[in-house]
Amino acid sequence: MQTLAQNLSSQGIEAPLSQLIHTLADTSKAISHAVRHGALAGVLGATEQENVQGETQKKLDVITNDMLKDALKADSTVRGLASEEEDYIVEVGQSGDFLVCFDPLDGSSNIDINSLVGTIFSVLPAPSGELSEKSFLQAGRNQVAAGYVLYGPSTMLALTTGKGVQLFTLNPDTNEYLLTCEAMSISKDTSEFAINMSNQRFWEAPMQTYISDLLLGKIGPREKSFNMRWIAAMVGDVHRVLSRGGLFTYPTDNKNPEKPYKLRLMYEANPMSFLVEQAGGKASTGYEAIMDIAPTDIHQRVAVILGSANEVDACLEYHRVDYSEEPNL
Ligand code: AHG
Ligand code: MN
Ligand code: MN
Repeated sequence: MQTLAQNLSSQGIEAPLSQLIHTLADTSKAISHAVRHGALAGVLGATEQENVQGETQKKLDVITNDMLKDALKADSTVRGLASEEEDYIVEVGQSGDFLVCFDPLDGSSNIDINSLVGTIFSVLPAPSGELSEKSFLQAGRNQVAAGYVLYGPSTMLALTTGKGVQLFTLNPDTNEYLLTCEAMSISKDTSEFAINMSNQRFWEAPMQTYISDLLLGKIGPREKSFNMRWIAAMVGDVHRVLSRGGLFTYPTDNKNPEKPYKLRLMYEANPMSFLVEQAGGKASTGYEAIMDIAPTDIHQRVAVILGSANEVDACLEYHRVDYSEEPNL
């Protein structure tokens, strides 16, 4: 089995990008170690702080954010970073080639129940000139690399540099990432979907109708039964989609009209969309490809529909219908 270093070099990925990937991978090993020690290391539970988005920070949100920030600050390839847990962008060096956006711990609500969590990262080219928040506001298409680390029964790193998606498993005996899947590929068709059903009454008409049709199973217009899964950590749900196909969505809802979307474009939606497209799947808001969005704010949120290409297309068809004549939806 190839090591991460061997695989990057066989793909022709050299410094500085390989250096940055190693920094991210090495930090994820330390995070994996902290996550595994859980209560023994006193890392479970909440802090009294809120992040910029008004969410109470868990201790592990803060710990993992600091670990990644410290590691990236020490890496000469990094010009700046932006994190879900940082109010503002952080300038790192004058000459680095890259900007890194990350969600240090995805699935925070799973921490205290010993369930799946992960780290998601996105690497953008650093534009020349002075660094500002504007430097980060690049469409997902500009990403030079993206990936996630899943801290599950085994720790796994899924990575893309635009040449497919490679999956590595952390060998706990040697603390080394080894290539366990050379090219992850999402099946075109699926009969599995992932959505937080408790928000059903708050969705827009297209999503209401689409999900109702899936739930009708064989007697509905789709003429087949669908299964449902919800891990409450995008990193886990997307890993399942990459592993065995499926459709994952966190759609627009009007539960809180000031917050119509949940997932963050720069830290969650863009990197996951890059991975999904590289594995042959699709990623859309319902109206446009996620990676085509021109960002206006580093912390902006977005509707996400991603996964098996034919199923995403089926869902998008519902978004083309005019529902204005249907007062109940
Ligand atoms: P985070 O823990 O980084 O705030 O992200 C959680 C996100 C995402 O990972 C997951 O799909 C979704 O929130 C879960 O939302 P619900 O609480 O509505 O299930
Ligand atoms: Mn997250
Ligand atoms: Mn998070």
